[in-house]
Amino acid sequence: MTSTLDATRLVAALGQASRRFDVDLLPQCDSTNSMLLSRAEVGAASGTVVAATLQTAGRGRRGREWIAAPGDSLTFSLLWRFAPGSVPIGLSLAVGVAVARALEKVGAGDTPQSFESDRRKCRAVSGKSPWGAALKWPNDVLYQGKKLGGILVELLPGAPHVAVIGIGINRRLPAALPHDVRATAAALGDHIEINVLLAALLSELLTVLESFAIAGFAALRADWLARHAFQDAPVVLLSDFSPPRHGICRGVDKDGALLLEVDGHIERILSGEISLRAAAPV
Ligand code: BTN
Repeated sequence: MTSTLDATRLVAALGQASRRFDVDLLPQCDSTNSMLLSRAEVGAASGTVVAATLQTAGRGRRGREWIAAPGDSLTFSLLWRFAPGSVPIGLSLAVGVAVARALEKVGAGDTPQSFESDRRKCRAVSGKSPWGAALKWPNDVLYQGKKLGGILVELLPGAPHVAVIGIGINRRLPAALPHDVRATAAALGDHIEINVLLAALLSELLTVLESFAIAGFAALRADWLARHAFQDAPVVLLSDFSPPRHGICRGVDKDGALLLEVDGHIERILSGEISLRAAAPV
């Protein structure tokens, strides 16, 4: 299946929704997020999208790189302007819901069986069992317990209502991926046409962002929790700035803060500069 981003195919797959986006498909750039932040500063419209076949300096959370050879990942960013004066709290989790829905739509998410197996791996016992990609706080997309995609939301300095939403989805694992990262990474394969995948993501983002603009993350929280890979599981939170913190993951609140139960008390964790891992029971 083609790995080539193509405007005609993308517009065809988007249908009516194509009118809501202004898409720039590039063979190469440093980072689609960086490029779109620069364009946002000079007034680019809400709905502007930059997708690149190759990023030479793709960025991830916590100062990490997003590594991918040409065509190995779908990498793109979407600029969204919320109402001036608002701050999009919980946006990156809302975006996770859109990504999971899109993967389900194109048949690329987990099957009900593998989702349940993910849950078992994570010792999650929610009882509800919708399927789809699993989500890990704050914004990883998992497939069969491994990382399939990442989300990097950046707000325009001085204008926090302007968001650049960057998404990377692995289609193949790049040869250059370090061994430790490879062991925890997943890829979709290339049986899903890249333009169909991008169209599904953009159209689910449109739905989610419109809902988020009206009601915030609260309206999407149930959807997020239904796909939460670590619900009620023992976890450890890792930070560059403090010792590991163990607890039981109790989901997220209406602002997207992680709820960690430690010694019978619930702590709200808001910082995105933290990674979450499954842990042995405490
Ligand atoms: C993470 O998992 O740490 C987030 C990864 C986000 C990667 C995407 S790829 C498109 C966009 N441009 C970037 O430089 N990063 C995001």
